[in-house]
Amino acid sequence: MFKRVVVPLDGSECADKAFGVAVDLAKLHGSQIAACSIVDPVLVVGSTPPSPAMDVVLTDMQNEAHRRIDDAVERAREAGVAARGEVITGVAFERILDFAKRNAADVIVMGTHGREGLPRFFMGSVAEMVLRKSSCPVLIVREGIES
Ligand SMILES: Nc1ncnc2c1ncn2[C@@H]1O[C@H](COP(=O)(O)OP(=O)(O)OP(=O)(O)O)[C@@H](O)[C@H]1O
Ligand SMILES: [Mg+2]
Repeated sequence: MFKRVVVPLDGSECADKAFGVAVDLAKLHGSQIAACSIVDPVLVVGSTPPSPAMDVVLTDMQNEAHRRIDDAVERAREAGVAARGEVITGVAFERILDFAKRNAADVIVMGTHGREGLPRFFMGSVAEMVLRKSSCPVLIVREGIES
């Protein structure tokens, strides 16, 4: 049923937990995992004009995202699960939905919260938008859940 599992990763503890759940699910169903990490330049540089300093910040973010994806792919493969990943530029929820479509996802597994949000909100804005707009089932993993 859940043959193709998409997991968006932003480096947060909660997304990490979700990834653990995705690996367990993939082991059970013999699924493949496709992980993605989105870098949104607008969030990084805001409305400040382009500058070499901003380029450095953006490159740092992209390198960090690549490391995150490489680590996740490695972690899945160590657990015997086939995995691949991509770093994508753009608006997080839009790119996650597009990535899920391109990969014909049977399920998206993600965290309730990410790096930026306030825990007092029920869930973050990226989780909420993906949940609202996804055409496949979405499994949302709360912080503090053991995996
Ligand atoms: N840039 C991103 N790339 C990949 N996945 C992401 C990204 N941002 C969020 N996610 C996914 O969405 C989940 C929820 O994060 P979200 O951004 O909605 O919460 P938040 O950071 O706490 O709140 P907000 O961003 O609205 O201030 C994360 O656990 C992760 O799975
Ligand atoms: Mg966020």
